[in-house]
Amino acid sequence: MGNPQLFEKSLGVENLQDPLIKQIIEEMQQAMQQLGGVGIAAPQIGYQKRIIMFGFEKNERYPNEKPVPFTILINPVFTPLSDVTNDGWEGCLSVPGLRGIVPRFTEIKYEGLDPQGNKIEREAANFHARMIQHEVDHLDGILFPHRMKDLKRFGFEDALPEFAKRSKM
Ligand code: NI
Repeated sequence: MGNPQLFEKSLGVENLQDPLIKQIIEEMQQAMQQLGGVGIAAPQIGYQKRIIMFGFEKNERYPNEKPVPFTILINPVFTPLSDVTNDGWEGCLSVPGLRGIVPRFTEIKYEGLDPQGNKIEREAANFHARMIQHEVDHLDGILFPHRMKDLKRFGFEDALPEFAKRSKM
């Protein structure tokens, strides 16, 4: 956070056959694995392209969340299914060590293309919906702290009671 590249709007992918797109996807996969995240967006590794990936079976950073299938999504778009929002904890590989409470739409539908060009269309709720909104925000130059309403609920993992407890156990 602070790198101006993270605050730029990313460009849509026009040619899925472009070797650069394949390379970006590989680098994103490596970074997500190495850093142990549940999602990543291309601008986080320095490419202003509308590509996100997300999903996990079990994740140490979010131990209570239900699994989400691993998905690579190109040119993703989401639409809220209602005005209902909920508050939940978020972290970000670009904001290491920090977490905050962020309001997000509870239910959305989203779509995009997989790397082969097939359309993916899904409905999602709760944490799954939260991940999509977080990752798509990266493509528009928005990080989760920008969405926060109460900065008292923004802090370091080892100081926030909700996380300090867990990491000390
Ligand atoms: Ni992030």
